[in-house]
Amino acid sequence: MHATLRIIRDEHSSLSAVLRSIGLLLSESRRHDLALDFRVLRAMLFYIDEFPEKVHHTKETALLFPKIRARSTEAADVIARLDADHGRSHRAVLDLQHDLLALEMMSEAADAPARRLRFEEEMHAYIAAYLDHIRTEEIEILPLAERVLSTADWAELDAAFMHNRDPLTHREGDDAFRPLFKRILMTLPAPLGLGPALEALQKSYPGGEPARTFWTSTSGGAAQRGAKTVP
Ligand SMILES: [Fe+2]
Ligand SMILES: [Fe+2]
Repeated sequence: MHATLRIIRDEHSSLSAVLRSIGLLLSESRRHDLALDFRVLRAMLFYIDEFPEKVHHTKETALLFPKIRARSTEAADVIARLDADHGRSHRAVLDLQHDLLALEMMSEAADAPARRLRFEEEMHAYIAAYLDHIRTEEIEILPLAERVLSTADWAELDAAFMHNRDPLTHREGDDAFRPLFKRILMTLPAPLGLGPALEALQKSYPGGEPARTFWTSTSGGAAQRGAKTVP
């Protein structure tokens, strides 16, 4: 598989895992009548803002989509829609981060339950839209790219994706995202588990790193932690 496609699919796996974990966290907290775990929700939204919004989308919009457009008009409408999604979604995650902060700061307010319900609905809608976006790219755009791009196109794309790997994704060298992922693992309530998310996150690291022990060697370990009812 071309390096470009592997990198995009790996990043989709990581992002999907985090998105699904947020959805699960919200659903389970509501089902068991628990307070929201603001720490882990903050960490997850921050991850989405830092990595997929600023890095992943940029690579698709700036590197991959123009190459496909130059070779085919077949999915022009779809690509335009995906580009528009990229343009909107950064604002959307910033709004969600703000709404979450408001929820935390205003937890004693009379309208806190209604505010929480609204946040959950918006978050679930965001997750569904994002997963649909990823599905469209994987089902329609990546196969189209495989069909229409030339060997020279792929060589150029793969070089750009690999070259941009370090500064853009921080996957190698001093991995800026490790502490964040570790914090997500450490703070996620145990009943949800984070196995699939971790697997996807680990897969996104070349050479199989970081080692599984990196994620699991936390004091107390996430598995031993009970569901939290942080304020
Ligand atoms: Fe995208
Ligand atoms: Fe994508």
